[in-house]
Amino acid sequence: MPDNYMVNFDTRELPQVEEEYIIMGSGIAGLYTALSASQAGRSVTVLTKQTMMDTGTDKAQGGIAAALGDADSPALHREDTLVAGAGLCDSEAVAALVSEGPDRVRELIGLGAIFDRDSQGLALTREGAHSQRRILHASGDATGAEIQRVLTQRVREDDKINVLENHYVVDLLVRDNTCYGVLAYDRQNKEYRVFRGKVVVLATGGLGRIFEHNTNPEIATGDGIAIAFRAGAEVMDMEFIQFHPTVLNLPGAPRFLISEAVRGEGAYLRNIRGQRFMPRYHDLAELAPRDIVVRAILKEMAATNSNKVFLDLTHLEPELVKLRFPNISKTCSEYKLDITVDRIPVAPAAHYMMGGVKINLVGETSIRGLYACGEVSCPGVHGANRLASNSLLDGLVFGGRIVEETKHFLKDYNPRHLEFACDWLLEPAKTDYAALRKKLEVLMGEKVGPVRSSEGMREALVFFDQWSYLKRHRADNAEQMEVKNMLQVGELVAEAALARRESRGGHYRVDCPDTYQRWQKHIIFRR
Ligand code: SIN
Repeated sequence: MPDNYMVNFDTRELPQVEEEYIIMGSGIAGLYTALSASQAGRSVTVLTKQTMMDTGTDKAQGGIAAALGDADSPALHREDTLVAGAGLCDSEAVAALVSEGPDRVRELIGLGAIFDRDSQGLALTREGAHSQRRILHASGDATGAEIQRVLTQRVREDDKINVLENHYVVDLLVRDNTCYGVLAYDRQNKEYRVFRGKVVVLATGGLGRIFEHNTNPEIATGDGIAIAFRAGAEVMDMEFIQFHPTVLNLPGAPRFLISEAVRGEGAYLRNIRGQRFMPRYHDLAELAPRDIVVRAILKEMAATNSNKVFLDLTHLEPELVKLRFPNISKTCSEYKLDITVDRIPVAPAAHYMMGGVKINLVGETSIRGLYACGEVSCPGVHGANRLASNSLLDGLVFGGRIVEETKHFLKDYNPRHLEFACDWLLEPAKTDYAALRKKLEVLMGEKVGPVRSSEGMREALVFFDQWSYLKRHRADNAEQMEVKNMLQVGELVAEAALARRESRGGHYRVDCPDTYQRWQKHIIFRR
């Protein structure tokens, strides 16, 4: 029996909603796409699995990159993005990102986003691998929260957009490679519902939660990638996970991100012996590309037999530190760290998925009618390693492109009203899903983390194989569905990582440490 669904259902028996755009996810990509579609006069339903504010966007600290400075240009931004991407960026997609980015950011400002300013105008900072100061930020280090605030407010005011919180998308309704809508589970009313759309957009975010140590919100369990893959969409670059170098590592404290902007403003990395080490690893020292900083930190940790290094801001002007990083300052103070006098203990953690559901230049996946934008998607703009602060921009640019592409044909497009059903899944397996999830998270961190080996990845694949029988059993609730999706995307990451017999960008193998011209290509999976 095919295993392309997670539950048994029959659309003839379920409540139905019909809409022009069905958008899944309420971060920058989902909400900006919804607002653009509404401005084009279209009706939209946004489905989000928790509340509107539970998104990766809301947690983003550092900022949003755009070539807005006097000395900057889209060409320079393009160059930095391509270099960071380590030979795997799609140059046309990058050109779209950097050339349309500044106007999209101005649009955000027009919608009411308040970015920090200095005497010159918009205050721009630097982050790793940027040749220019081009990162806009808000409230110092709460850029994502400001963007989330303004988009949420605008969407709530818009009567053409209907937002349904606590709606978990279970599966896509696809026939003959065309998407007709989605099956969703309303967690509050405990019922399944069918949402039919002319344009179906995945904007569900990333998968960082499959790793034990990560910077991601609870919702980041790879659902969008898993449901698209089950429905037959192509997924690309799944081996490329970005680990963030500096995440708070203090017993009892959450893995809280300490923004790269801290190093952008001059902070040093020191090992536990107090030695500053990054100049030994790269000319750009603390502002080297993220993968290089991560591996340098791991080497220093191993050499000093420790599970941490330190971020040191104590040589910076205390007033500036407090003004620029109020959020980091406050969180660290809750754990008795005064960042103007104490060094911050940090270690790397999973942060961002460069790969995902493969899309073209207008956001279309390999399934007709199914589009994707933001972290769930892979337009090829990040290649093997994303340039810092390009992710919020990616959601805006490709969300906007989806609407530009689709808004015209909708008037004359009337999708067939097809019915869908599944009755072949077995009863829910008697599995302790919470324990399985924990095992998966630890395994991914240990075997498919920032330093990989053939042996470790094979062990991971044996684990996924052991649990593959669960695909034949229906899920009983949203928690089980999440674990099933996590198993699916974890397996895709491990398989792609084992297949790529080299090291490049975020993918590093001790058994194949070099980069090869013959591997300058993408790995694409399709069910
Ligand atoms: C950070 O603030 O360091 C994260 C920014 C990003 O991941 O782009």
